[in-house]
Parts: sequence; C-alpha cells; structure tokens
Amino acid sequence: MKLSDKTAIITGSGRGIGRAIALKLAGEGARVMINDLDEGPASETVAAIEASGGEAAACIGDVTEATFAPRFVADALDRFGGIDIIVNNAGYPWDGVVQKYTDEQWYAMLEVHATAPFRVIRAAADHIRAAVKAEKETGMPACRKVVNVSSIAGLYGNAGQIGYAAGKAAMVGMTRTLAKEWGRYNVSVNCVAFGYIQTRMTQPIGSGEEVAKIGDREIAMGIQPGMIAAMEQMIPMGRGGTPEDAANAAYLLCIPESDYISGQVLLASGGLIM
Ligand SMILES: NC(=O)c1ccc[n+]([C@@H]2O[C@H](COP(=O)([O-])OP(=O)(O)OC[C@H]3O[C@@H](n4cnc5c(N)ncnc54)[C@H](O)[C@@H]3O)[C@@H](O)[C@H]2O)c1
Repeated sequence: MKLSDKTAIITGSGRGIGRAIALKLAGEGARVMINDLDEGPASETVAAIEASGGEAAACIGDVTEATFAPRFVADALDRFGGIDIIVNNAGYPWDGVVQKYTDEQWYAMLEVHATAPFRVIRAAADHIRAAVKAEKETGMPACRKVVNVSSIAGLYGNAGQIGYAAGKAAMVGMTRTLAKEWGRYNVSVNCVAFGYIQTRMTQPIGSGEEVAKIGDREIAMGIQPGMIAAMEQMIPMGRGGTPEDAANAAYLLCIPESDYISGQVLLASGGLIM
C-alpha cells in the first residue's frame, strides 16, 4: 500500500473524477476527507470506502463559501490528525459564447476553479508549515502533495468556455507558484489536466441527469452526442477516459515515486493535444 498513514482531502469527491480519486487513494491505504455540495453522493463515497475496509469522513459544503476551507481543513485535522495530500477537484463548466457571457458566469467560474482551491491551500498552510518544522527536528520531512485538477480547456482554450478556461488556466499559475513557495516544505505541487472524461459533466445530452444544482443555480450539463463522437475521433487512443483513468493520473502525483516532481502539468487525455 503506497499511501498507508497518509491523509488526503479531496473536494468535489461525491461524484465522477473526485469520487474515483477518493476510492483509488483509499485503496492504497489513505484516509480520506470527502467533500461535496451534495450530501447523498458524498455519504455514498464514504460508504463505498468503508465497505472496502478504508477510512473516510465527509465535510459537506460549497467550496466557494468563504468559511468552507478552514472548516474542511479543521475537520480533517480533528478526524485524522494531519493532512498529506490535497486534491482540488470540485468544479463544473458554465458555458456560453463571449458576447452573451455574464459577469455572474465569469465570477462563478473563477470562484470555483481559482479562489476556492487557493483558499483550501491557504487554510492548510499553517498545519503544513508546523508539521514540517516538527519533522525537520527529527530528520527529513515527509513529502506532501497538492494536486490541482485542470483541463485541456485551461491549457489550449475551448470555444464557448471563456470563464471555465480562464479558471482552469489560473490553476496552472497557482500550481507553479505554490511549487516555488512550498518546495522548502518538501511539498510536491502539480496539476493534472484532463481531456474528455466520461462523467455527469460530459454525459451525452439526453441520457440522464442533465441539470446540476449548484447552490441556487441550475447549470446544464452534458455534451451533444455528435460532438462526443467528433471528439472521440480526435483522441489518438480512440475513446474518452473513464473516471478511473482520470484517478490513476492523479494518483501518480500522490505516490512517493513522484516526490521530486513539482510545478508540472500532467495531461491525461488519451493523447489528445489541441
Ligand atoms: N469530465 C471531464 O471531461 C473533465 C475534463 C477536464 C476537467 N474536469 C474537471 O474535473 C473535475 C471533476 O469533474 P467531473 O467530470 O468529475 O464532474 P462531476 O459533475 O461528475 O463531479 C463533480 C463533483 O463536484 C461537485 N461540486 C461542484 N461544484 C462544487 C462546489 N462548489 N462545492 C463542492 N462540490 C462541488 C459536484 O457536486 C460533483 O459531485 C472538475 O473540476 C472538472 O472541471 C473534468
């Protein structure tokens, strides 16, 4: 087990990629603090981890609320006594062409993809610095990990996603900056950018849960089936990724073998480079 005795905190882990990352890390021995807006899916992830012998707890809440990050970090410290891995995964697209894009959409995208991860990282800083100081007194501090979830849209742009792409690009700048600030604390800080991964967010329109309730907003989810087929043709590996494919990429950035990798963006897209 590569992650025994480690504690991971993962935002947006009630569904999709975040849930798969939680199961993967727990399967390797990590204790996991789950978060989601929605209590049902978050509790289901906790139950799935516990059913396979792992340890998990949930901190329900909207990552964009100003009080969320300190509560999330405090809950993890109270419950598990430390934080070794931070995965900033919660997010969603709120799309529109630039001439119709509202300030509300723009700020919502920056809040969830840039401000919220920044606050989680800031809230964990005191604990990490103190833990590293104590560990330095007895030898080499453990390598901690930050994994920020970005997107191919944040690296190369995507028509109709001006706010989403800006938020996901902000994560790259944040990752590279934090890698420079926290190298001295032996924290490896990286970004994983996904291409097309099959989740609620990217389901074919007409197939199921097409509206996500984000606070008091209803956001349309899903992609036109024709667009999905076109995208799959462009992917060198010929298929969209599963949430497990995505989780495996994030996992690589959490294990000891990646301890000396920091400030990088790992593109997990089946070979697609836009
Ligand atoms: N699916 C893809 O193709 C793809 C591609 C690139 C990047 N991503 C990114 O991966 C991450 C996960 O997306 P997914 O595809 O698993 O989507 P998903 O909708 O299946 O899961 C996202 C989860 O995050 C939660 N969430 C959303 N906003 C939240 C908030 N403000 N506070 C707390 N929880 C919140 C949702 O309730 C949901 O359970 C997102 O950041 C997304 O932008 C996805």
